[in-house]
Amino acid sequence: MESLNSIFATTRCSLLVLALWFLFVSALHCFAADAKTQHHEFVVQATPVKRLCKTHNTITVNGQFPGPTLEANNGDTLVVKVTNKARYNVTIHWHGIRQFRTGWADGPEFVTQCPIRPGGSYTYRFTIEGQEGTLWWHAHSSWLRATVYGALIIRPREGDSYPFTKPKRETPILLGEWWDSNPIDVLRQSIRTGAAPNVSDAYTINGQPGDLYNCSSKDTVIVPIDSGETNLLRVINSALNQPLFFKIANHKLTVVGADASYTKPFTTSVLMLSPGQTTDVLITGDQPPSHYYIAARAYVSTQNAPFDNTTTTAILEYKSAPCPSKKGVSIKPVMPTLPAFNDTATVTAFSKSFKSLNKVVVPTEIDENLFFTIGLGLNNCPKNFRSRRCQGPNGTRFTSSMNNVSFVFPNNLSILQAYKQGIPGVFTTDFPANPPLKFDYTGNVSRSLFQPVRGTKCYKLRYGSRVQIVLQDTSIVTPENHPIHLHGYDFYIIAEGFGNFNPNTDTKKFNLVDPPMRNTVAVPTNGWAVIRFIADNPGAWIMHCHLDVHISWGLAMVFLVDNGVGEMQTIEPPPADLPIC
Ligand code: C2O
Repeated sequence: MESLNSIFATTRCSLLVLALWFLFVSALHCFAADAKTQHHEFVVQATPVKRLCKTHNTITVNGQFPGPTLEANNGDTLVVKVTNKARYNVTIHWHGIRQFRTGWADGPEFVTQCPIRPGGSYTYRFTIEGQEGTLWWHAHSSWLRATVYGALIIRPREGDSYPFTKPKRETPILLGEWWDSNPIDVLRQSIRTGAAPNVSDAYTINGQPGDLYNCSSKDTVIVPIDSGETNLLRVINSALNQPLFFKIANHKLTVVGADASYTKPFTTSVLMLSPGQTTDVLITGDQPPSHYYIAARAYVSTQNAPFDNTTTTAILEYKSAPCPSKKGVSIKPVMPTLPAFNDTATVTAFSKSFKSLNKVVVPTEIDENLFFTIGLGLNNCPKNFRSRRCQGPNGTRFTSSMNNVSFVFPNNLSILQAYKQGIPGVFTTDFPANPPLKFDYTGNVSRSLFQPVRGTKCYKLRYGSRVQIVLQDTSIVTPENHPIHLHGYDFYIIAEGFGNFNPNTDTKKFNLVDPPMRNTVAVPTNGWAVIRFIADNPGAWIMHCHLDVHISWGLAMVFLVDNGVGEMQTIEPPPADLPIC
């Protein structure tokens, strides 16, 4: 009898556990199923914007500079209708979004779409799948992204939490670059002359240059903090052409993520971000309540190239700090000491600190072993060529290339349309897997190797192939730290180094345990980086240097990734409103 009772008791108990479990699982399911569809309207338009004492007719989104911040949860679908009321062609790129099966919404002009003409519109539709952290969006047409950009914040799914202490406040920090003239004209002039474009006149934080520039102090950005609280800063380098150091006086920063992937937390006093990169950091209000400068200025990895040597600032303000207007109170914020412009050692130490938060699965068998040189070049001018057009070094024109190919964008159809519709004559598929000639890439390169060939060359990848790319800087014209950005994918950065990559010795340095996952790698100046990814997203994906001056000169190539098997491995059909050329 007793044992029967206890069996009943056990059964009742397990029933209760089962019921509770069921409730728990369905609650979880509810949270997980809570993904939303968000609708947004972006109107690209000329807007008066006053900076550095002068008013410009600046191209903005919805009259805002920087543009609107998009806030989403992992799993959400974004539907953004972009209407072009400006006088330039425009496209918008969602930098870092994987765009699984939705390559038509990726945005690079003449790669995945024809531009949206003045008066036209296009609706970008995509779902965020498995990405959390900070990304951003920007124009991907000419140099419009100088002013057409904004933050794209992805929080965990509802009910999920950050893998770190929940911050009290979250502040996006967009670093930018400002010209005292129309950036489109700056680019056009350099294309006309073949010379390097003018450098910017200011850097900005959330659109404002800050106290150290003329006519700027009253608009300096204030970032609030309270004693004892820990806040999240989402730092984005949206500058056009300049890697930047970033520092806050007297405060340590704990890095917790980059390019919408979590990292093992590490503490640093200085960040370096290349254009395209994002870094999420925690900051604690552990200093005497006061005002502290947040400052950014150039990291210069080139030799003898002109650069903008100014410093942008914002102010970290403790809520309990003495009021600046009170008489007798010193209001000058504390200024941090930034690294020297050419402090590559600091950049290397910082970059080596990045590890994925958890162990990851890096492909170990490789199907596509690629080696791409990246760098500048010079085109010789034919005799009797009008010298106005050859104002680069010694009467040449600047160019740049990958594996000696200087990329030429099509102008009558996008590569993705031509690829999917089988239209010939738009691109070729002969982008080389290796440099056509082996040489001492980082040594004293012969002048005869300075001139690349031009072409719209793509590289085909079978669906699911496991890809490794060695990105090798060259010292042609000047070595430089190039931020290489791949669309449609995140990749693991498994090693970095200086000099020429040596497969015999450098393979030993590969981190296949917890390498950082990113969408933009800052390849060390006069050095190399090795990345790996699996080609599991069909489409046409551009890989390029995120210094806009270098894309304009051809530092780009395109991967064509086949469909796999079945619907889930096949790119969706093009949307009906895809702009036509
Ligand atoms: Cu953020 Cu192709 O760019």
